[in-house]
Amino acid sequence: MNLTRLAARPPARMMQCMTIGLMLGTLTVPVQAADAERGRELARQCSVCHGKLGLANDPEAPHLAGQSSLYLEKSLADYQSGARADRRMTLIAEPLSPADIKDLAAWYSSLVVSVEEPDVKP
Ligand code: HEC
Repeated sequence: MNLTRLAARPPARMMQCMTIGLMLGTLTVPVQAADAERGRELARQCSVCHGKLGLANDPEAPHLAGQSSLYLEKSLADYQSGARADRRMTLIAEPLSPADIKDLAAWYSSLVVSVEEPDVKP
């Protein structure tokens, strides 16, 4: 019996198991990356008030284009929790999943906004 080989086996098996375990772990818990393209699709339902490209048509609705994703996600989470309330947004935010919120925020924050200074005479 080759004792050296026997002794070397368990750690090798363990490494195999760990490798497989890590791979399975990666498969079962996928990293949730925001999907701006999916957000664009979801944003169709928002465009009535917030505009097709996040520039609001409704004078009561804020522009969302170019807003930071952190702020957008927080606002939507706040409408869901009740920390922020609005008769329209509370109803609209309610059915959104965490992934919906991330994707919508990714879409609106990816829109590029440019501003111009008004021609103000000194
Ligand atoms: C019926 C009109 C309407 C629709 C449709 C609508 N919103 Fe709004 N949204 C508003 C109004 C009005 C406000 C301002 C509410 C307030 O004062 O808190 C608002 C506020 C927000 C805010 C907070 C922005 C800020 O600057 O504080 C976010 C984020 C938002 N909406 C996202 C969405 C998303 C995402 C959708 C689609 C899933 C959507 N809204 C659909 C009317 C609408």
